[in-house]
Amino acid sequence: MKGKNLVSMGDFSREEVECVIERARALKAEWKAGGNPPLLAGKTMAMIFEKPSLRTRVTFEAGMTQLGGHAIYLGQDIGFGTRETIADIAANLSRWVEIIMARTYAHESVIELAQEASVPVINALSDHEHPCQALAALLTLHEHKGELQGLKLAWLGDGNNVCHSLLLICATMGINMAAACPRGYWPDPSVVGWARKLAQESGSEIVVTTDPAVAAKGADALYTDVWASMGQESEAEERSKIFPLYQVNQALVDLAKGDVLVMHCLPAHRGDEITADVLDGPHSVVLDEAENRMHVQKALMVEMLGF
Ligand code: CP
Ligand code: NVA
Repeated sequence: MKGKNLVSMGDFSREEVECVIERARALKAEWKAGGNPPLLAGKTMAMIFEKPSLRTRVTFEAGMTQLGGHAIYLGQDIGFGTRETIADIAANLSRWVEIIMARTYAHESVIELAQEASVPVINALSDHEHPCQALAALLTLHEHKGELQGLKLAWLGDGNNVCHSLLLICATMGINMAAACPRGYWPDPSVVGWARKLAQESGSEIVVTTDPAVAAKGADALYTDVWASMGQESEAEERSKIFPLYQVNQALVDLAKGDVLVMHCLPAHRGDEITADVLDGPHSVVLDEAENRMHVQKALMVEMLGF
């Protein structure tokens, strides 16, 4: 995987996803047993953030530290695409650092960055996708359920960036996914179409519905996210009237399998997309998933840099 970019979750084959998950498990076990060797000593990562973050910033930065490397936070002051073109930023960074991650508004910005940079680029969330979150979800599912093939993951709420990356990874890995979203907030048809093609190869099924019960029934995992993503703040009030039917609450948990996992990329809004009792309850694995962001991203960095 040396030199590869991660812009869309659909960029990774089943073998590549398995490779990242295996490496993440090994790095995690090693870290828990006392620490990782400095595989990335002397290496630097540039972290571009157009949007706020807690998990993404800390997990990449801590992960780089644990591997003996260094990460540099680049916030709004670099004027991504305004003070300087994305192409110029990519060309400059490629002269100094070994790897770049970017959290952007427009998905096209990560695509352009990856095209223009001569070092690997990781999408750390765009308006269209959040592949690192999908990888962390997969590692968490693997840890709790073992076999992935044939599991059912239900998505409740907005057909957003996290939903898109989950559709692609589930379809690649043979996991059935049913997304329940209000009409007008369905995932992008091009992503659904791509996922359905991948699902044909892996033997899974991709369903999109307006009915939360159809999605939740018999599910191995219930996944939700905020109703208004970063950049959609002005729509938050309108969305809060449309989405309550899709709230992950005890009634929905009762429709799923008895050992269902409750997942959320975080940050969460208790009382909106998920009730506090469910988010903080016995089925919740949200903190495992947050921790696993660090382990999958460490695996991504070492694999993309060829170590
Ligand atoms: N889940 C996630 O990406 O969290 P942050 O927005 O805090 O980075
Ligand atoms: N869909 C959310 C995810 C945050 C991690 C957003 O884009 O704001």
